[in-house]
Amino acid sequence: MEYERVFARNWTFAGFAHEIPHPGDAMPVQVAGQPLLLVRNTANEIGVFHNVCRHRGHAVITAPCRGLKSLVCPYHAWTYDLDGNLKRTPHFGGYAKHSVDGFSLENHGLKSVRSGVWHDWIFVDLAGEAPALDKYLTPITSRVEDLDFGNLKPLAKLDLGVVQANWKFLIENFVEPYHVPIVHRQSAAGQPLAEHYMIVDDHCIGCGIDVAEPREDGSRDVLDMSTRYFVLFPNFVFGWYLPNQLGVHLNVPLAPDRTQQWRVIYHIGEQTPNAEYVKRLSELWQRVHREDHEIVEGLQRARASSVLEDGGLLSPYWETSVRQFHKLVVNALA
Ligand code: FES
Ligand SMILES: [Fe+2]
Repeated sequence: MEYERVFARNWTFAGFAHEIPHPGDAMPVQVAGQPLLLVRNTANEIGVFHNVCRHRGHAVITAPCRGLKSLVCPYHAWTYDLDGNLKRTPHFGGYAKHSVDGFSLENHGLKSVRSGVWHDWIFVDLAGEAPALDKYLTPITSRVEDLDFGNLKPLAKLDLGVVQANWKFLIENFVEPYHVPIVHRQSAAGQPLAEHYMIVDDHCIGCGIDVAEPREDGSRDVLDMSTRYFVLFPNFVFGWYLPNQLGVHLNVPLAPDRTQQWRVIYHIGEQTPNAEYVKRLSELWQRVHREDHEIVEGLQRARASSVLEDGGLLSPYWETSVRQFHKLVVNALA
């Protein structure tokens, strides 16, 4: 039900444009439980299609691909161009007879999905009825006007594996700072609770922190900087670690108690940081995510309890973002 009402009827974050950097690059993804493919065409535009062959439904691509001239289904080699148009149906009408009377290639292209790209992030609207992407993004774009997107460099993609928890626990956890001094006692030692504030703006929820006295030792082993944490409902997770670091998570719900998670770490600036910096930053983020995963997996296990039927309580100050998230979920499901 959430696949259909929460994910398919909203703009949903589906993937990273830098992973298909050149024409002919393509990759399979899953959105709202459905197999889709992202592909860059010869005009350098990104298209999104259902990854379902129009013959008998096999996935057209099963792994990330580079420099394809066309998309060839691995089952019977039906062939589509990079815009999803069906071009060849080998031997479909008999040996060496590639056409069938009454069957037209034109009507059997891959089914396309409404999509849009904002910088490195590919969004899809499966139902095709969401408001314009610009409008959806406004609560973030209006808050990051100082961010130099022209100098955004992906440094690393962390595969954070399958978290044994519902996707909503991960979102709730990201948008509240209440747990930070406890769960990330060391890893976020430079982000005291007192300096956080909450962000609740319709479908944009999160929190921020303005650190009064950032440490100046250049350490990359602890979070100690001013930060903006945003989630655009349902699954676009965006953290700006001022001034020059960005993190974006892709959370893909696999089952009610399993969520796949990746994080891309970006540098904002003209120079590319060295490998040692990237390694230390990656280790820090692995550590922070591991701390969060242990907590959300504990929340998931606790859901077996008969005394948690009401879901517990929320802080009227630190968890206003969680409350808003619950409202967004309830409204989507209504
Ligand atoms: S299912 Fe794709 S060619 Fe047969
Ligand atoms: Fe956390």
